[in-house]
Order: sequence, then structure tokens, then C-alpha cells
Amino acid sequence: MLSAQDNERLTQVGPGTPGGELMRRYWHPFAAATELDERPTKPVRLLGEDLVLYRDKSGTVGLIERFCPHRRVDLSYGIPEEHGLRCMYHGWMMDETGQCIEQPFEETVHPDGRFKEKVKVAGYPVQEMAGMLWAYMGPAPAPLIPMWEPYTYENGYSDIGIAELPCNWLQCQENSHDPVHLEWLHGYWGVVQQREKAIALGGEPDLSPIIPRNHKEIGFTEFEHGIIKRRVVEGTSKEDHDWKVGHPALFPNILFVGDGVKCNFQYRTPIDDTTTLHVTWFFYKAAPGTTLPKQEKIPHFIVPIYDESGKLIPDLVNHQDFVAWITQGPNADRVQEKLGESDRGIILLRKQLAEQMKIVEDGGDPMNVIRDPGKNNSIELPLERWPSLQEVSRIAVYFTAQAGETEEVKSDIQGVLDTWASHADEVVASNRS
Ligand code: FES
Ligand SMILES: [Fe+2]
Repeated sequence: MLSAQDNERLTQVGPGTPGGELMRRYWHPFAAATELDERPTKPVRLLGEDLVLYRDKSGTVGLIERFCPHRRVDLSYGIPEEHGLRCMYHGWMMDETGQCIEQPFEETVHPDGRFKEKVKVAGYPVQEMAGMLWAYMGPAPAPLIPMWEPYTYENGYSDIGIAELPCNWLQCQENSHDPVHLEWLHGYWGVVQQREKAIALGGEPDLSPIIPRNHKEIGFTEFEHGIIKRRVVEGTSKEDHDWKVGHPALFPNILFVGDGVKCNFQYRTPIDDTTTLHVTWFFYKAAPGTTLPKQEKIPHFIVPIYDESGKLIPDLVNHQDFVAWITQGPNADRVQEKLGESDRGIILLRKQLAEQMKIVEDGGDPMNVIRDPGKNNSIELPLERWPSLQEVSRIAVYFTAQAGETEEVKSDIQGVLDTWASHADEVVASNRS
């Protein structure tokens, strides 16, 4: 249980709040690069600030304050020009730093006037990496985007799922330090939801490969990038990967999950105190001996969270997590919770957050702020080999985890996984090593 003040301190993301200042030390993925192909401007809300994303005709991507500094119209309706974003109301133009660079009528009346030099709104750096657009909203100089090893993988296929969730980011991240939910939320409630859906569609699913084994013991270890989760499940011991290697959650708001063939990073990017942009980068590796053409564009999909009846979608794995996080409320009332043995990872995460906020308050760089390019080539992450993932049926078959992927993308992914069919024994062996 926390005090109301501690709960606020951990969850607020606006400028000047301790949590907001911590979050402003990181690059956050907030859109897919392909979104700007559809329309060159997009309203964006990030860390409690209203912004507009645009790509001008020279290809420069800007992320600036959303409302025009003149008389406050919404610049997501503005016009990207050769260099800058022009307001549609009276033609003022801002560049990617937020500096006003043109004021057509002012310049007509006062050709030597210097008014525009005094007009500047917020403008934040943006980078494209792994098909995502990333923003940095903290003090200069900006650090590097951590280059986790999977971002260096080649010969595979990736796509990006983006869901807007009506809850604070910390509810999502706490779930990543809570292994016991697996056997209940996914293995018990979730399986019932999947079965009911399959029956409603006229079939009967085979769910046996996806029912997790019950946890017997859980453990958590801090490491330089976050917290490693360890577990002993029924039928395993501390000699197995689940305990010896474990699997990481990355500070402050990233989950990494996967096996030797498929993996994903889930970023819980705060939109504001009660809304989160859940950005998942999925990767599917092709089997050795198969060469895939280089992927020119990484497709994205917008993840719906409600079904036709207006209820939260319950039958896909990541959506089961969404149901838990969202139904905790816009910002979970941690004052009223009763923590037990299954919550030791959550307690450790909160402690880590409090410590790292203090480091920021004292002027230091918190965990995972990386500035040395020599340390950012391919950061290795521990990865457990889950017993259930040794099932060949799970390696080569694609399970949709989030709604909204097109049939075309699903079939592309299945095509990549099919390349493993003749390698199944090898995969099982490597998972056991
Ligand atoms: S309101 Fe934008 S130029 Fe006038
Ligand atoms: Fe989960």
C-alpha cells in the first residue's frame, strides 16, 4: 500500500513532476513511421503535452507544440511546406525546433521587423528507428536510443501494434513484474474467453499448448537494465532456464518477451496521467538457410481494444492484460491495495522508480540513459527458454496477440514461421541448451 502522495509521485508524467522528469530522460516510441505516409501531420499527446507531428516536404520530421503561437489554432490541420509547418489560419510558419520562421503579413508591413525571432514554441527531437518514431522531451544533450540486441536482428520480419489505453502507464509496467497473473488471467480466465469465442464461431479450440504451468516460486533480481524475473513452475527446478536465466523487464517502461524465433518489445509510452500509448514491436526470425528479402517498410496496425458490443476484447493474450490494466481504473488507487507474496516484483519496481527519480532530482542520469555509442551497439538481454515454448507447435504457428493486424500481414508472418518447419528439432535443442 502506498500513500496518495507516493502514488502521485510514481504515476504523474507532466512537466515538473518527479515522474514526468524521470520519463523526460528517455526516448519514447510514439508513432509508426508509416503513419506519416497516410497523412503528413498527426496530433500527438505525450507526457501530458499537446503536440503535432509532421513531415515537411524536405523530409524533416518535426514534433512541436500543437497550438499555433499566434491565435492558437490546431496545427495538425496545418500545411507542411518545403521546410517547416505553416499554420492554415494566417500563414505563420514554424520549423522543427518550434521557432517561428515566417509571419507573412507582419513581414509585409514591417519588412525589417524582428517579431518572428521572439516567437518560439516547444519543439522536440524525433528519430526513426526500427520503423518507429521516437521523441525525446528532456534536457539537452539527448542520450541515445538503447539499441537492444533484437533491433540488430536481420533476416526476419517485424510489424508494430499501437493501442491507446485509458489507464496510467505504471499499471501496464507493474503487470510485467507480476508473473503469477499468467496462470490466472491468461491460463484460467483467458482460456475460458478463448474457448467461448471459438465455440461462438462454431469450433472448439485446442488450448492445451498455451495453458501455463502454475508457479511454485518467484524471484526478482535487479540488473543494470531493470529487473530480471525468475520462476519455478510445476515440473521445473532452479536448474532450469526459467530460474537460472530468467526474463527481463527494462526500466522504466519496457517489457521484452520472446524465444529464439519470435520476440517483442512492449513500450508503455505515457500520453498523460491516465492514458498510455502501448507500442509493441514484433520480430519474427527466419530459419537458417532461408534468406528473406530486406523489409523495406515495417507495417503498423492500430489495435482496437473494444469489440462490437462495446466490451473490452477478452480472447487475445495481450488484450487480457489490457483488461486487467484498464479495469484497475484510470490511475489505480494504490492506497487501497493489499499486497501479498505475488507482488514482490511490483514492490521492487516501485523502489527502483523511487531511487531513479531521486537520481534525476540530484542531477544525475537514471538507469538506461545511454550516452556512449561504444556501449550501444547491441545490448544483450537475458532470455529464458520457457518450457511451454519448446513445443514445436508454438514455434511454427502464429498466434495473434493483438487485434487489428491485416490478413496480409498475418500471412507474411506465418510464411516466415513456416521456414522453421524443418528445423523444429534444432530449435527445441537450442532452447534446452
Ligand atoms: S492562428 Fe496561426 S497564423 Fe494565425
Ligand atoms: Fe500478461
